[in-house]
Amino acid sequence: MKTVLVTGGAGFIGSHTCVELLNEGYDLVVVDNLCNSDACALDRVQEISGRTLDFVRADIRDSAALNDIFSRYSINAVVHFAGLKAVGESVAEPLKYFDNNVNGTVVLLQAMQRHEVFNIVFSSSATVYGDPASLPIKEDFPLAAVNPYGRTKLIIEQILFDLGKSDSRWQSVLLRYFNPVGAHPSGLIGEDPNDIPNNLMPFIAQVAIGRLQELSIYGGDYATPDGTGVRDYIHVVDLAKGHLAALSHIVQTPGTVAYNLGTGQGYSVLEMVKAFAAAADKPVPYKIVARRPGDAAQCYADPALAAEKLGWRAELGLERMMEDTWRWQSQNPQGYRQ
Ligand code: NAD
Ligand code: UD1
Repeated sequence: MKTVLVTGGAGFIGSHTCVELLNEGYDLVVVDNLCNSDACALDRVQEISGRTLDFVRADIRDSAALNDIFSRYSINAVVHFAGLKAVGESVAEPLKYFDNNVNGTVVLLQAMQRHEVFNIVFSSSATVYGDPASLPIKEDFPLAAVNPYGRTKLIIEQILFDLGKSDSRWQSVLLRYFNPVGAHPSGLIGEDPNDIPNNLMPFIAQVAIGRLQELSIYGGDYATPDGTGVRDYIHVVDLAKGHLAALSHIVQTPGTVAYNLGTGQGYSVLEMVKAFAAAADKPVPYKIVARRPGDAAQCYADPALAAEKLGWRAELGLERMMEDTWRWQSQNPQGYRQ
């Protein structure tokens, strides 16, 4: 498991995972088309880790480019982050999502098969549980897609289950992320959305830095302690370490296995706003508006299976998530575009 191909490695979660993989001694090849990221993130990954990686700017749907990579490098495993992730956009342009995420993964898996690389760690999402009937969410809960983005994750999971049944050489770990937030403690890499953020944490951070005026809190009348939505926010460095655990586990476990990567602890939107304002020592103005269609009141993981089987647990708490996000945002007010 020495050389790992990281698809989407220039992105938010990919860049943090590259740091942890390099620190652990893996050699890395990153493939990314930079459609939602900046190559500067990879320079900073190398600066943090003090090690180099090889970067190929290519689309995972480009079969020839992938063949070239698998021919040039002796790849042992693939960590597959590359994908589009904006829920609203996926509703408006479903074919873009099916092409990029599903077709892209099929092209990647075909290249892996041709070059006899059968180990893959896949970025799935808690969205595959749809609107769960009870909490906390366990891996064997029923799966459902509530939007085209979620459907791409579900389809890819099913493809990987089918592959595992077709050929025992395939070993896939599906990591179902809850809500990744935070940044590397160096302040050098973090989340840098292209447009106005869809997700809560980058929105709050951009309000605090003055790029956005005010947070709209989607719904104050949920059946939660303070009426705002509750989620399982997980520090991106903890999440990145989950990939190390998955890679060491993959060699021992044939077939396809899914794990929740979350903390098991839910926080409300108002708790997040207060914690961020305290860490940044800045006010975060907000107003409560109508619910966002498709949002669940509460969503949090049962992370016990990952603890038992992967020996992985989230370690960083809410304060660190906030401090590290603020360090990244305040040191890079415009993200990577300085
Ligand atoms: P991101 O957009 O920051 O990173 C994705 C990377 O993939 C980007 O660098 C982008 O340029 C690249 N990419 C996209 N399509 C590509 C293609 N066809 N070919 C090559 N590169 C391509 O997103 P992220 O937050 O780091 O998410 C990484 C993965 O985790 C995604 O698959 C996402 O769906 C999944 N995920 C993210 C979250 C979250 O909240 N961030 C939650 C659950 C699952
Ligand atoms: C969203 C997606 C989910 C995807 C995940 C990661 C939806 C319905 N769900 O999850 O499919 O896997 O991102 O990309 O889009 N909030 C506000 N104001 C904001 C933004 C968010 O109040 O400006 C609230 C939301 O209502 C929610 C919480 O903050 O209660 C977290 O929202 P968000 O960060 O978008 O994550 P999810 O909705 O959990």
